Amino acid sequence: MIQYDGTHQVFKLDTPHTSYVFGLADGRYPGHIYYGKRLGDIDLAYLLRTDERPWPPSVFSREKVSFFDFYPMEYPFEGTGDCRECCINIRTEEGQEGLELTYLSHRIYAGKKELEGLPATWSRGSAHNLPAADRSSSGDGRLEEIADCSTLELTLQDEVTGLRVILSYTAFEEADAITRSVRVENGGVRSVYLTKVLSACLHVEQEGLEVLTLPGSWSRERMMQRQKLGYGSFVTESIRGISSHQDHPFMALISENCTQTTGDIYAMNFVYSGNFIAKAMRDQFDQVRVVMGIHPDRFCWKLEPSAAFQAPEVVLVYSDGGLGKMTRSFHRLYRDHLIRGYWKDRERPILINNWEATYFDFNTEKLLEIARESAKAGIEMLVVDDGWFGYRDNDDSSLGDWQVNENKLPGGFGYLAEEVNKLGMKLGIWVEPEMISEDSDLYREHPDWALQLNNRGPGQCRAQYVLDLSRKEVRDTVYDRLKAVLSSANIEYVKWDMNRPLSDVGNTILPPDRQGEIAHRYMLAVYEMQERLLQDFPGLLLENCASGGGRFDPGMLYYSPQIWCSDDTDAMERLAIQEGTQLLYPLSSIGAHVSDCPNHMTGRSVPLETRGTVALAGTFGYELDITRLSEEDKCQISEQIELYKKYNSLIREGDYYRLESWQHNHVCDGYMIVSEDRSEALLTYVQVLAKTNQKSRRLQLQGLNPEAFYDIDGKTCQGAVLMYAGLLIPPMSGDFQAKLIPIRQIQKFKPV
Ligand code: GLA
Repeated sequence: MIQYDGTHQVFKLDTPHTSYVFGLADGRYPGHIYYGKRLGDIDLAYLLRTDERPWPPSVFSREKVSFFDFYPMEYPFEGTGDCRECCINIRTEEGQEGLELTYLSHRIYAGKKELEGLPATWSRGSAHNLPAADRSSSGDGRLEEIADCSTLELTLQDEVTGLRVILSYTAFEEADAITRSVRVENGGVRSVYLTKVLSACLHVEQEGLEVLTLPGSWSRERMMQRQKLGYGSFVTESIRGISSHQDHPFMALISENCTQTTGDIYAMNFVYSGNFIAKAMRDQFDQVRVVMGIHPDRFCWKLEPSAAFQAPEVVLVYSDGGLGKMTRSFHRLYRDHLIRGYWKDRERPILINNWEATYFDFNTEKLLEIARESAKAGIEMLVVDDGWFGYRDNDDSSLGDWQVNENKLPGGFGYLAEEVNKLGMKLGIWVEPEMISEDSDLYREHPDWALQLNNRGPGQCRAQYVLDLSRKEVRDTVYDRLKAVLSSANIEYVKWDMNRPLSDVGNTILPPDRQGEIAHRYMLAVYEMQERLLQDFPGLLLENCASGGGRFDPGMLYYSPQIWCSDDTDAMERLAIQEGTQLLYPLSSIGAHVSDCPNHMTGRSVPLETRGTVALAGTFGYELDITRLSEEDKCQISEQIELYKKYNSLIREGDYYRLESWQHNHVCDGYMIVSEDRSEALLTYVQVLAKTNQKSRRLQLQGLNPEAFYDIDGKTCQGAVLMYAGLLIPPMSGDFQAKLIPIRQIQKFKPV
């Protein structure tokens, strides 16, 4: 619900448990007042401190600059007084920077608009949550707006340039989340250069805040990091052209003693997959400002008269119940209002991917051998990874030549799909459409199609260049090739990979004053291509990937309901990687597979049972040569598949509670998934290293109904006992041991 109190000039957005409030100082400047627990009252204008020095300009215009440098502006602008990190800056044709935004108008409406060309959360009943096939039949009224959210559009203007800035806020009625995005329109008569357009800003006044971020590396993505926020600023950012392995488009301010179950959290997550910045700073008056948006480095967008620029969306979540509550808000929002399409709520096929089984060394016969054994074990889909096209036998060649290598796969995917389908399995393939190898026919024909700076030429990474997808003829050619392959056979799944960061971001096509647009245009092109793919193949299951989890972000989730989490498939390493990923993203979106042992990267051997248990907290599949496994292992795989079938709807739809963090305690990991009605739960416990002279570990469960009685390991226990007093998990013999403990409600109240 969104309200406007005209008397006090205050806006208030409510979600089930939170309120977000801002007001207008002087009737001109929107200033942040409050974000936190839900409030009944709206009369909070006094918190803007407009009766304290420095007064708003209408009272004493002599202090306008000091006012701007203190005031908690909802959308701060640069160059006219505010010397903290701001959200927007422009350069005029005269080369001058700075602007001043004031309130022009607002409107409040039910529902939420699509963001043109960009991924974004959606309102129930709107067209964009439906697969293409259903959209076209929208004439029958099924898509009537049954909105479960409302939106406030606040229009600000810069009188001198005629620029209009529209801030959009959406409050979701069933999810505790607010989204923000920004559109800039040039209502003036001269072009303006947008040198910075961030998407959201938040002010918090609270002592002792820490900043939580998710830094990482290739094969070590999204490690949780907490740091005290002193004076000055803290930044997490990517200028790699992808959201990246190294940083994550997420930042949260958290109270210093915050745990999984206690403490305040103010979190921001960016629905975008390219360059970003998130910055938190504590100012001279102890106000903390956090901003998030497209990174202003390597960005400059020319806005001609009447043109508009749409900046992506930021999701805001407030939790007064620690990290766990924040996690569940993100999960709910992303499951119900971001992920789309046919596979959104469906059980995903259990797949086997040949990458770690064969790398580039495979042919139809080898793949069919894998498929035959997989079908016997109950695996449902074979995915042919890198190496099926051009003449690619290693990673040196052929990207861009998307024709099947018939020497390896005689009869192409048509024959393979038929054979695989005969086994009762689906067929999926890997592609890397954004790339071009120097050693490829495509490059020999179009060397200028690689991103490059004048007179420098493109730079290689993994022996490949990045295609300049900002050019329409480039993306159309690649898309058409991809479409031809997918149309040639019954291919039901695509793993869309992206194996290097962007560099040399330039081309000879755009004029000098538009070169700063290329990185964002590139991202828009990727989104456009993936949207076309979903429109052309509505039942296709798309899984995004970028050297593992280099582009695991809400932007990509809008197109693919699942994303490959990391190239590191070692189950113990995965505990931390999956913990950081699960902090924000639902388990149904996290690509997790069981791989071979010793693990190809770490050399570690982990029992198959444990590998299976860890992979269950994701989309589940296999990444190994099943034909080489013992009969005993194959039987275990069948058992794992039964477990997946039994628990997948709970894992996909249930609420997630983290109990233990191996990353933090260096002993064990533990988490629970609890059904919405709290009648069923699954507890996973992993003992990483065995130790001598250990006592059992006491775990306090979460999320159960305290009144109800549950069956757990054959014993009857009350929810309150399990949650407040706890459960004992005895030490296990051997390293890397896992336990899966089902919990089932037997009755709601005390037995008589
Ligand atoms: C990336 C992916 C892997 C695999 C290889 C193939 O690294 O993350 O899963 O597909 O590319 O080259």
